[in-house]
Amino acid sequence: MNLGFIGTGKIASSVITGICRSKITYKKIIISPRNRRIARSLKKKFKKIIIAKDNQQIIDKSNWVFLSVTPTVGEKIIKKLKFKSNQTIISFISTITLSQLKKTIKVKAKIVRAIPLPPISLKKGPVPICPPNAKVKTFFNKLGTTVEIKNEKSSINFWSTSGMMAPFYELLKVMTDWLVKKGVKRDNAQKYITSLFLALSEDAVVNSKKDLKYLVKESQTPKGLNEQGVKELSKAGFYKSLEKTLNRIHKRLNK
Ligand SMILES: NC(=O)c1ccc[n+]([C@@H]2O[C@H](COP(=O)([O-])OP(=O)(O)OC[C@H]3O[C@@H](n4cnc5c(N)ncnc54)[C@H](OP(=O)(O)O)[C@@H]3O)[C@@H](O)[C@H]2O)c1
Repeated sequence: MNLGFIGTGKIASSVITGICRSKITYKKIIISPRNRRIARSLKKKFKKIIIAKDNQQIIDKSNWVFLSVTPTVGEKIIKKLKFKSNQTIISFISTITLSQLKKTIKVKAKIVRAIPLPPISLKKGPVPICPPNAKVKTFFNKLGTTVEIKNEKSSINFWSTSGMMAPFYELLKVMTDWLVKKGVKRDNAQKYITSLFLALSEDAVVNSKKDLKYLVKESQTPKGLNEQGVKELSKAGFYKSLEKTLNRIHKRLNK
């Protein structure tokens, strides 16, 4: 099976890196000449990558086609491309809906929307897909955790929370900088903070059958440091403001 990527930017290169490090079997990965720098570096890093001469050549040579361009570029180029009805087309494009894709792609190919995130390059993280599709599910399960979504509208909910990746890193940065201000060496500070939050996230995944409120509770002792932390941040409106931001991001995606 050949896999083709239209648009070789941040998310395409993360997915391609994940695929090349995974057990997925494929013949070739055919990528866009754009972005030139990223395309060349991927070809240099991994075997079985071919840089196509243009977008149509990617489609002609691929069984699965991944759309990994921005919405503005997608609106401009998809309508000019000729897809095949036996192809599976997986769109990463944030704001183009399934019905819009079906209309512009014209042929009766299988079309699935997916929301991979950069840690897919480490074969980690959730990948919501819509509509459910067994083969696409199996594929992304080798690169992370596939979450099947029946209703396209609800994928916007997942998408909204992915806007919290940079705020999460900012949180780690603020704590690391704080330790540095207290005189800790930066590499030690960063090692401490990142391994603490990695451990907490792993613990949360291991306990994912439990409601998270139990982890919040179990990690506090009466009058302890964590009780103070959660109480003070709640009082200061930290979590409410998180919810408000999620609502505003959601509103933006719903337009
Ligand atoms: N980044 C994420 O975490 C993430 C996660 C899930 C989904 N997405 C979605 O995935 C899509 C791509 O996001 P991204 O972050 O990867 O954006 P990006 O880094 O800007 O990548 C877009 C790529 O498209 C290329 N391109 C521009 N015009 C093209 C054309 N006519 N034909 C072929 N390629 C062309 C660009 O090349 P040049 O640099 O040469 O212009 C660039 O390499 C977006 O719709 C985004 O919403 C992103």
